[in-house]
Amino acid sequence: MNVIVTKSRYEIELMREAGKVVAACHAALADFIKPGVSTHQIDQFVENFIVANHMEPAQKGYNGYPFAACTSVNDVICHGFPSNYVLQDGDLITVDMVALNKGLHGDSAWSYAVGSVSPLTKRLLEVTHRALFVGIEQAILGNQISDIGHAIQIYVEGEGFSVVRDYIGHGIGRQMHEKPEVLHYGPPHKGPRIRKGMAFTIEPMVNTGSYETKLEQDGWTVRTIDGSLSAQYEHTLVITDNGPEILTQL
Ligand code: MF3
Ligand code: CO
Repeated sequence: MNVIVTKSRYEIELMREAGKVVAACHAALADFIKPGVSTHQIDQFVENFIVANHMEPAQKGYNGYPFAACTSVNDVICHGFPSNYVLQDGDLITVDMVALNKGLHGDSAWSYAVGSVSPLTKRLLEVTHRALFVGIEQAILGNQISDIGHAIQIYVEGEGFSVVRDYIGHGIGRQMHEKPEVLHYGPPHKGPRIRKGMAFTIEPMVNTGSYETKLEQDGWTVRTIDGSLSAQYEHTLVITDNGPEILTQL
């Protein structure tokens, strides 16, 4: 669909349930992720958690993606394959997942420090988390979609980091990826006006070095071009009369 599909109260309720499961899974992962755990184990944890809650791990099989979770370590920006890689003290990992609940999706990615991390990694995590909320603050009735990305870019670059441009946020509902496109950079006051019933993700990926990306041979894994570190926080939101409701938070 090339138009923005606003969601009914019933659809929003199903997305709220999906979002809660994704949020609860992330909360559980915060304890599960530690040095010695493999990214494959994290994928199994995510798949089991979603299935135990009677939903489907929607990333598995999506455009041929083979796993329930994306596990992106250090210089991997997004879409990292789970593997037998064992997390090391000082690593940074982003876990992205989508739950499908009776036809409606909830999508959230979260970055985690593994053991004790460097001051640079710590600052990257703080700035990227803040960047998500700087974006959410702009997701209000009457604003335009590009006001979100503009605020994120100004904030992140002011902190000396860069915003990835090749991967963006998206409308979400009966499809994992719908209109509108939600860029995390660019000029303000462009794109569709934010209206009640719109549901979309905001998911800034922030790098310590260049914003440029490179795609691996596997066709999925995306890395920073310069080997610098990358973090990401993503929420699914719906716009209500009272402003943005974060669906992927407990
Ligand atoms: N959850 C991702 C997003 O934020 C989609 C990952 S692509 C997939 O849009 F193939 F892994 F699903
Ligand atoms: Co996602």
